[in-house]
Amino acid sequence: MKIGFIGLGIMGSRMATNLQKHGYSLVVFNRTRSKAERLLGPCGTFSNSPAKLAEQVDVLFTMLAHPDAVEQVALGADGFLNHLRPGALWVDCSSVNPSFSKRMMAESARRQVHFVDAPVTGSAPAAVEAKLIFWVGADPPDLETIRPLLLCMGNKIVHTGGHGGTGRRTWGLNRLVIRFIAWHARGRTVSGGETGQDRPPQLRGRVSIALDAERYASRDRERVRNRCRHAANEYCQRNVPTCHARWTCD
Ligand SMILES: NC(=O)c1ccc[n+]([C@@H]2O[C@H](COP(=O)([O-])OP(=O)(O)OC[C@H]3O[C@@H](n4cnc5c(N)ncnc54)[C@H](OP(=O)(O)O)[C@@H]3O)[C@@H](O)[C@H]2O)c1
Repeated sequence: MKIGFIGLGIMGSRMATNLQKHGYSLVVFNRTRSKAERLLGPCGTFSNSPAKLAEQVDVLFTMLAHPDAVEQVALGADGFLNHLRPGALWVDCSSVNPSFSKRMMAESARRQVHFVDAPVTGSAPAAVEAKLIFWVGADPPDLETIRPLLLCMGNKIVHTGGHGGTGRRTWGLNRLVIRFIAWHARGRTVSGGETGQDRPPQLRGRVSIALDAERYASRDRERVRNRCRHAANEYCQRNVPTCHARWTCD
């Protein structure tokens, strides 16, 4: 299996290094070539364009800054999507929105490329230590193909259902839950009581998840966490029916 990796920034370079540590040879591309240098050698070759890279690989990982970057590298001049072989897998780990992923899935399907959305939680240290969590929206056989590769870079895989944005929706929800818990904890210690004024804008209106801060500003922080996780589980069941990920509640 030949593997390609595009996007060798803070996260991508560390993820690619971990694949190499497990003996996988990579064909890599990065807009700024200098960032690829330390991956080159017996286990790494540089390709001059995403298109040329795509012609050589069976599985392609992308770890790019934002949707515009992904779109440019996939579908722009010298983009890779028209050059991947039918049946090849494109695993996009970049943080993008679910609707963008759905569009990329449709573009991939049109070219008989199997799309996997696989955003991660964990920052640079977790990427170095191969402790990322992957939130994967993929057809089960595709996940099985890439599972050993993901486990070189992370230590947990949450299969959220079929491809086309389920990984990202659940990943986003998880971030929301974490933010709410952090906000709640911070609010209590900083102001000594909840006013709701410092509630992050992302949480406003997300009643099913954010709950009612004042109501739950009790001394029982664990209860708040549990309510929050229950709400997240309900939300997930309702909105991402294929997702079997569940937050643990007491
Ligand atoms: N850093 C974290 O802690 C963290 C944690 C979880 C998830 N993420 C997500 O992981 C993704 C990558 O993050 P990062 O921290 O590795 O970012 P980064 O260091 O800024 O790297 C971004 C990558 O995208 C490339 N890029 C940006 N715009 C481009 C364009 N228009 N055309 C082609 N390539 C372009 C950059 O190429 P150049 O090198 O040429 O600029 C670089 O390879 C993001 O979606 C981020 O939200 C980051």
